[in-house]
Amino acid sequence: MSSHHRRHREVADPQRGDSEFSEPDLAGKDEPSVFSLEDDEIWLHNHGVVALTLRLARAVGMKEEELIHVRRGAFLHDIGMVGIPDEIIFKPGQLTEQEWGIVRRHPAFARDLLSTTGALTPALDIPYCHHEKWDGTGYPRGLKGEQIPLAARVFAVVDVWCALRTARPHRAAWSIEEAREYIFHHAGTHFDPRIVEVFLTMVSEQGS
Ligand SMILES: [Fe+2]
Repeated sequence: MSSHHRRHREVADPQRGDSEFSEPDLAGKDEPSVFSLEDDEIWLHNHGVVALTLRLARAVGMKEEELIHVRRGAFLHDIGMVGIPDEIIFKPGQLTEQEWGIVRRHPAFARDLLSTTGALTPALDIPYCHHEKWDGTGYPRGLKGEQIPLAARVFAVVDVWCALRTARPHRAAWSIEEAREYIFHHAGTHFDPRIVEVFLTMVSEQGS
């Protein structure tokens, strides 16, 4: 396991019962920079998330012309972590409530970053809204239900799924059955229930 993995700050851990599992992978690098993606693990991780997000977006009926923005948005989902100070990213042990507050600014940083280039503005739904929750308890805006852009509702399921299915320094990867159970259990609270249904069907038919 490479060194950046051990120092890697997780945005959340399922066993702590807080259900934000997004991975600040781009920020776990020695010299965080917006588009340097030479790290193989980051590259592979992001490709897995992107591929699964696109499959699910198609399965819920998103149009082909929307998928380019879904793909870009999924790939850049945690780009806002470049705005979080290294002392927090690399802090060993638990973050304080105040530090979590700073980490939770990463969607707004992403909005600020990506909205400066016209080309990426249509890809903002995922980086800006991937921590919103169906029941309105997410952040940064506490959007509820279909107020959350469809791309972000799709991505949220995939992001949590991929986080659970990946081993961490302090825990093994969850089994497919455990991860399915978790996603199913959070339909209607964290996730759009219709998307969960499509996702679980897709996973059981095609594996993941
Ligand atoms: Fe995130």
